[in-house]
Amino acid sequence: MQSPGKKNLLEDVKSRLDIVSVIGDYVSLKKAGSNYSGLCPFHNEKTPSFMVNPEKQVFHCFGCGVGGDMAAFVMKYESMEFPEALKFLAVKAGLDPEEYSSGFDKRQADEKKDLKEIMAEACRFYSSALQKSQPALQYIKNRGISPESAKEFMLGYAPPEWGALAAHLARKGFSPEKIIRAGVSKKGQNGLFDMLRNRIVFPITDSYGAPVALGGRVMDASLPKYLNTPETALFKKGQTLYGMSLAKDAVRAEGNAILSEGNLDVIMCHQNGFKNVIAPMGTALTAAHMKFLKRYTSKIFLVFDGDNAGINAARRSLGIALEQEFEIKVALLPSGEDPDSLLRKSGASAFRLALDNALSPVEFVLKTFKGTRTEVLREAVHMVGLAADPIMKEELVRELADKGRTSEDAIRRELARVGQKRSYGGRPTGPDVSKTAEQKPAGPAGIRYKEEKLLLSIFYNQPDKRGAILKDMSSEELEDPVARGLFSKMARAEAFTAEEQAVLSALAVAPGFEPDDALAAASDCIKKLRVRAINKKMAEARGDAALLKKLIMQKKALTGGRTINGE
Ligand code: CTP
Ligand code: MN
Repeated sequence: MQSPGKKNLLEDVKSRLDIVSVIGDYVSLKKAGSNYSGLCPFHNEKTPSFMVNPEKQVFHCFGCGVGGDMAAFVMKYESMEFPEALKFLAVKAGLDPEEYSSGFDKRQADEKKDLKEIMAEACRFYSSALQKSQPALQYIKNRGISPESAKEFMLGYAPPEWGALAAHLARKGFSPEKIIRAGVSKKGQNGLFDMLRNRIVFPITDSYGAPVALGGRVMDASLPKYLNTPETALFKKGQTLYGMSLAKDAVRAEGNAILSEGNLDVIMCHQNGFKNVIAPMGTALTAAHMKFLKRYTSKIFLVFDGDNAGINAARRSLGIALEQEFEIKVALLPSGEDPDSLLRKSGASAFRLALDNALSPVEFVLKTFKGTRTEVLREAVHMVGLAADPIMKEELVRELADKGRTSEDAIRRELARVGQKRSYGGRPTGPDVSKTAEQKPAGPAGIRYKEEKLLLSIFYNQPDKRGAILKDMSSEELEDPVARGLFSKMARAEAFTAEEQAVLSALAVAPGFEPDDALAAASDCIKKLRVRAINKKMAEARGDAALLKKLIMQKKALTGGRTINGE
């Protein structure tokens, strides 16, 4: 829900910025009739199906179905939630978002700002401690991490004392409560003690590179090997991917992301030129991770150790990624290797080869699943059944029929038999922490009836005709629920959902009528939808002669040719 404060800010932003120039910063746009067109930044295409309509201040892509206003564009392109996108635009427009925020929003924002300052200061402290510690520098060197990589990933060192960081932060003026809420230190018997001590520090950042948590690794064989600071207002473990801020440009450029398992893997991959690599930290891949990654790409390589444990982990991740409609390949490394060790031992070409040889989900099951031929096929069908995207599922069925040397028909029957998709291995996929985040629709909902869509288009695109149309009809006469909802919201000037915005943006860039004919076209649509309604009633009237007669009269009156203007 938007607070009234935020709503005003959006309006003020829109009155100062032009969507053509906002999007023009990202996409090269050319005038095309009443629209501007360009190559869609959200999917791969060679001919432009991405349109921006200056009059309505909306964009729409006919290739992938996304659309909406400038805030929707920024949310999608910059992978921001609405409040963040709004602030981003406000700054662009020269407005001060603070002036618009409610007391509660402001308190929350202030708290996060303070925690971020603490995290940034903690990283500075640890990185300068690294420069002073020979053993820590030596450890990093021994692991093959270059000084440049160490700097890029902001690596640090937590000295062995109990409260070195807490004391430093207190000196900088941060309160003990805030330091605790940032998760870097805890309350002990004698004041605060630090979470990480005598460990190499791996700052975990948000996707803009601001540290939100810290991972710490021991420099010997002691346990636990890694320790992360806890979840805070800034850090949600199950949806954070290590290295995302450094990988996101490459992910967009390459059109895919490589998912490895550990911090060191990410760093060494980057160092070897594989910059689209990220990793979940210590947790198995979750649906929330995948939803977050969807903002950047829907194609991934899963990279796993080729041993049994790696294969099992790959199987699980594969299921989750299929459920989240990712196009997936699984790269299995030589047994006992992770990307870090492989790169160090055999170099970038060996890693490249593993990626080139990556298996499709079907190939993965056929190659790695141990069992009789029937068991392997059943397992593969089960995997195919997890694909949530019907088109992808179809392709997997065909691939399985081909490579598993069985018939598509048999696969389909087995799919039907095992029923609706279940979570992989029958296990729940874990809590979905991203539930509250905005669900992005795959594409705008279609409007079932042509005449209702056209009527809606006229109603939307020609605000000055709304009065005339409303005089003649009401939204209840529309049968399609999407059309009906949009129509009544527009009539009452209510705000739209993201999904509704995408329906409208499609109508803005392709109205489907000539402005001069708008009213005549609207009349025609209303007549058609009424005839359809009467036909429906007639079909239901059956033996009721009186009713039938009445309906026939109504239909006659309609087709007799009345228009909105009464001409
Ligand atoms: N991890 C963790 N807690 C642990 C072990 C691991 O949070 N006790 C996380 C770390 O982010 C680690 C990743 O899981 O990078 C993978 O762990 P693992 O495969 O055990 O270690 P490597 O990454 O190979 O560790 P390294 O190369 O540093 O030995
Ligand atoms: Mn490793």
